[in-house]
Order: sequence, then structure tokens, then C-alpha cells
Amino acid sequence: MKRIAILISGRGSNMVALCDAVSEGRIRNAEVAVVISDKSDAPGIAHAKGRGIETIVIERNGRTRVEHDREIIKALHGHNVYLVCLAGFMRVLSTEFIDAFRGRILNIHPSLLPSFPGLDVQQKAIEHGVKWSGCTVHFVDETIDGGPIIAQAIVPVLDDDTSETLAGRILVEEHRLYAEAVALVLGGNYEIDGRRVRIRPNSN
Ligand code: GRF
Repeated sequence: MKRIAILISGRGSNMVALCDAVSEGRIRNAEVAVVISDKSDAPGIAHAKGRGIETIVIERNGRTRVEHDREIIKALHGHNVYLVCLAGFMRVLSTEFIDAFRGRILNIHPSLLPSFPGLDVQQKAIEHGVKWSGCTVHFVDETIDGGPIIAQAIVPVLDDDTSETLAGRILVEEHRLYAEAVALVLGGNYEIDGRRVRIRPNSN
């Protein structure tokens, strides 16, 4: 059983999607060991508790980023976590954190990276006039939303889209894609070659 931690700051719908994928067997040989939030008022905490999952709040509280990250690393080690899934976790990780779990931290981002890293990306996609957007699951490295890409899904951008309608269309794909990417990474059928994540054909 590989133990997963999910880090959130807010709503937690991707966290819920991952928990459901684990309990429904779409992510196999894994369990969600802990959900960690850096915000005590994150709505996702109640959803995790409702699923019987342990939750921990580790707020920044005047700590430096490195101190805050050390608290989180301690909690992750304390729960024997193998894979860290960022799911709307609104903090940039320190190098110490990334080094502690290198190659085992995933993030989901609501654009087709490398287009539109950062925040408010659905609005930026609309303002840019792109015809397609989507979401990306990638390994986390020192760059912002820049680590090797594991999986992407696309959705059309419609003429009358607002950032909310586009975000909703992307979110449906996020929930599916994140679970698939976590299953793939835990299955180990891939290799990282520079920036490229090559998926090996399924041997079953
Ligand atoms: C998602 O759009 C995710 O891609 C981005 O932040 C949002 C989090 O939503 N990183 P939720 O908290 O998972 O509902």
C-alpha cells in the first residue's frame, strides 16, 4: 500500500476526486493517509473528515516558508507518505521540501502548460483568445508550474465563456485526469527523460 498525502488550501474538489478514485479502486494499492491544509477555514477539510480521513492544519502563522515547509515535511514523514499530491495548495514549495520528496510530488494546474502558469489562468486564457484550454498534471520541481508533464486534457474555449464557465468545464477534466495520473505514477510504468515523461505500454 502506497500512502498518499493531499495538500489543499481551499475547496478540495480535486482532493475529493482522488479520495473517491482510491476508494473505488481506480487508484490501486494506495490509501490517502492524510490531508494537510495550510488554511484552517478550507472547506475541503470537512469533506476529508466526512470520508474518515485524518486532517491536519499547518498554518503559516508568521513562520518563514522554510519553517512552514519543515512542519509539513515532519507530518508527511510521520505518516509514512510516499506520494504528495498538491490539490489547490496555494504555496510555493521550498527546495528542502522538493528534495525531501523529489519525483514524488504532483500538482494539477487548470491550463495547458506551459501556457498560463500562475493564478487566474482561466481568465488569462479567455483574454488571450485561445480556442482550447485544459489542465495539466505535472511533477513539481523548483519552477512555478514548470515541472515535467505527466498528463494533459483539453477542453474548448467557447465564445461566450466567462472564467467561471471555463473553470467548470476544465474542473470536470481535472478530476478524471488527476486520478489517472496518480494511478500511472504509483504503477511506475513511466520514465523521466529530461523534461519528458515517457509512459511505457501497460504490461498487463
Ligand atoms: C483547481 O482548479 C486546480 O487545478 C488548481 O486550483 C484549483 C483547486 O480546486 N490548482 P479544488 O480545491 O481542487 O476544488
